[in-house]
Formats: sequence, structure tokens, C-alpha cells
Amino acid sequence: MKLRPPRLPERPPPGPTRPGFWRSPLRGPWLTSLFGSALLPLVLVCAVTGFLSQASYNPGLGNSLLPGGGLGFDFYFFSWPTRPSYLYAVTQGLHVTSGLIAIPLLLAKLWSVMPKLFEWPPVRSLSHLLERLSLALLVGGALFVFFTGLLNIQLYYPWPFTFLPAHYYGSFVFLAAFALHVGLKLPTVLRAFRERGVVGPLRADPRHRAREPYREGTTTPLGPDAPTMSRRTLIATVGAASLGAGFMGAAQAIGGPLRSFGLLAPHGTQLSDGPNGFQINKTAKAVGIEPAQVGRSWRLRLAGRGGIELTRDQLLAMPQRTCDLPIACVEGWSTTQSWTGVRLRDLAAAVGVEAPDRVVVESLQRAGSLREVTLSAGQVADERSLLALRVNGADLSLDHGYPARVIVPAAPGVHCTKWVSSMRFEAA
Ligand code: HEM
Repeated sequence: MKLRPPRLPERPPPGPTRPGFWRSPLRGPWLTSLFGSALLPLVLVCAVTGFLSQASYNPGLGNSLLPGGGLGFDFYFFSWPTRPSYLYAVTQGLHVTSGLIAIPLLLAKLWSVMPKLFEWPPVRSLSHLLERLSLALLVGGALFVFFTGLLNIQLYYPWPFTFLPAHYYGSFVFLAAFALHVGLKLPTVLRAFRERGVVGPLRADPRHRAREPYREGTTTPLGPDAPTMSRRTLIATVGAASLGAGFMGAAQAIGGPLRSFGLLAPHGTQLSDGPNGFQINKTAKAVGIEPAQVGRSWRLRLAGRGGIELTRDQLLAMPQRTCDLPIACVEGWSTTQSWTGVRLRDLAAAVGVEAPDRVVVESLQRAGSLREVTLSAGQVADERSLLALRVNGADLSLDHGYPARVIVPAAPGVHCTKWVSSMRFEAA
């Protein structure tokens, strides 16, 4: 079925819709296939680790941050493990790092297909219209998902919507359009590599300036100009930008001495030196914790078969355990510290629940979707899961959760609740 808008001129209006407008001899199916093939594994790693991040919240326990607990297609049917303890640091580090590596490649890929975005006439038939709509979802979805992610790792939210549901459901739109696009373009990719070789154009043309063979309907220009840079320089520039972005992502994920190279991560969040001198996302002041709430009147309320209240001194008098465990943040940074406190399972036993099915942990912080978190049976049972009172041999600082905070191996940092006020252990 042909759709012919009545008032659309046959001849494209002057500007980017004219084929002669796009003259770079570097554009063509081979270059686009090269950038696309590099993007493909990055998008797959980023998608898998993104869904794993959602799984790490144990949404089955009611921890989902999606409105109404998700839309029913949140397919998480396993309990997030506690081993290895650096599991979330790795999965989330990979998520952020693969996303950062993909951004320069995505921009280069879009540059390489720019003439196609201005095709004339904009709509030729119903199938063409559908294809154009899927491309709008692909390009819009990719830009939305990658750039909201990029700003989120800087804790910068210049928009009126909530980041997580928008990023999460946006990724469904992007990934559906992406799968369709890869399927449709695979023959073009295979033909380009078969005809020209994966790195053929770089070898065959020593100065790397010749146009790809002209084929109508592709991005190869009809009337090329002299290039402003060689093909090799373009690919090296994009590769260097991607590697640089990847290094910055890996530096904040690995932490330690590399942390200062994580230039895309928030800075100025290490508020002191000494035992408590490591990164903080939310300060006590930012979430409205008053010093009076954490003074001598503070009590930990424990509920199980019965209920008890414990002072900090009583908690310190219980058997203490010290473990080196990472705090791994959704923004991709992580830091391993030595924590000392009471095992969660000892607290469960203190209120008569020997093998709890779950524990609901509440924070003193007044607002925020994460002021209450439910930990799974496996997380409570792990002997390294602590209600930490001290870190690196010193009392926790107020910003690190004084008087007491949770620390659970392999859990996302947002589940290591600070300023704990109560814990309710539920039997199976
Ligand atoms: C974030 C992901 C991507 C975006 C936003 C994107 C965007 C686009 C757009 C807008 C076009 C022009 C429309 C068309 O030719 O029909 C295009 C063309 C193309 N894409 Fe993608 N793409 C992406 C990923 C990929 C991947 C992963 C591959 C390969 C595995 C790929 C291979 C191609 C090829 C071969 C073309 C045709 C180029 C030509 O005819 O000269 N793309 N892409």
C-alpha cells in the first residue's frame, strides 16, 4: 500500500534531505557494520547486568522500586546469592562500564547513518512508515537509556520523572527496537564483511580515504568530498574515547588507588580521612537524621517471636564478628572495608527465630523508597551478614550509618541500610 502525502514535494527541499548534502567518503555500510558489531556485545552485557541489578533487589520480597512492584513481566524467580561477596560489585561495575564504553560508539554509529535519518520522502509506504517508527524508538530509546544512565552515575537528576522506572522501562523499548534492527541489518553486515573483510578497507586503502563502493540506498555518498580525516583516524578516535570512558568506569568499580581516575563518578563524597574515610552517597543531613535520634536514647527494636529493645552498648556486648566486605553502589563504584558487628542470625536467635524466612529492616531516615528493605533467608543465614557497629576498628561515623548499619555480602549498597531503627524477623 502506497502512502503519498499530497503536499510533499517530489524533489527534496534544500538541506540535509538532499543526497548531495552528505559528502563524507568515510560513510558506508562497512563502517556502520564495524561500529554496530562493536556495539552489539556491549549492549548485550549492559542489558544482562541491568536486569541482574534489578534481580539483586530480590523484588519477590517486595523490594521492587518500580511503581506497583513492576508491570507483571519482571521475571525474577531466584533469590540473589551472597557469594562471592564481590558479585554485585562485578555485575554493576560491568553494567556501568559497558554502558560508558558504548556511548562514543553509539555517537559514531549515529554519525555514520545520519543521511538515512533525513531520507526523502520521509514516508514511502506503510512498511516504510513502520520501519521509520521502529528507528525512532531505536534512536530515541538508545539516547534516553544511555544518557539517563550517564547522568545517574553522577547523582545528577535534571528531570521531573523518577530515574529507575524510566531507565528500566525505557530499556525494554530500546532493546525491542534493537533486536529488530540487528535482525534486519544482519544481512547488510554479513555482506559488507564478506565483500570487504572485517578490517579490509583499512588494509586495501593505505591512506584510508577512498569511498566504499557506491550502492544506492546505503550511506555511501554519491558525490564525495575530500575527507577531513582518514578512516583510521576516525576509528582510532572513537576507540580511544570508548577505552577512556571504559577505564574511568572500571576505575570507580575497582576502587582503591584507581578511584581518583573515575572522573565520571561523583567527587567530594569522601568526607573525612581515617577509618571512616571512604565514599558516601547520602549524608545523614541529606536524609534528615537529627543527632538527637542517634544519641543515648537510640534503641534497636527487634521483633520475632517476641520483641526486645537493645542499646548500642548491649549490642557491643554481644559476640562480635569482623569481615572484609564491599559496599557496591548502583552507580557502579565499590569500596571494600573491614566491618565489625553482630551477625544478623544472632539477632534473629535473640528474638526466638532460628531460621528466619526474611527480615524487614527499617531506617531512621524519614523519607525515601529505601528506608525499609527486606532481606532474604539466605542473606540472614550467611555468617558474614552483620549489623555493623564499627568499621576499620573505629565506631561508624554518622554519615556511614551510626549507631548501626546493615552490611550483607554481594547485596547492592542500597540494601545495606544505614541508621537502623528496627528489624522484624519473620519465620518460614
Ligand atoms: C544502539 C544501537 C543502534 C542504533 C541507535 C542504530 C541506528 C541506526 C540507524 C538510525 C540506521 C539507519 C537506518 C537504516 O539504514 O535503515 C542504521 C543503519 C544500520 N545499522 Fe544500526 N543502530 C544500532 C545498532 C546496530 C548494530 C548493533 C548493528 C550491527 C550488528 C547495526 C548495523 C547497521 C547497518 C548495517 C545499517 C545500514 C547502514 C547502511 O545502509 O549504510 N546497527 N542504524
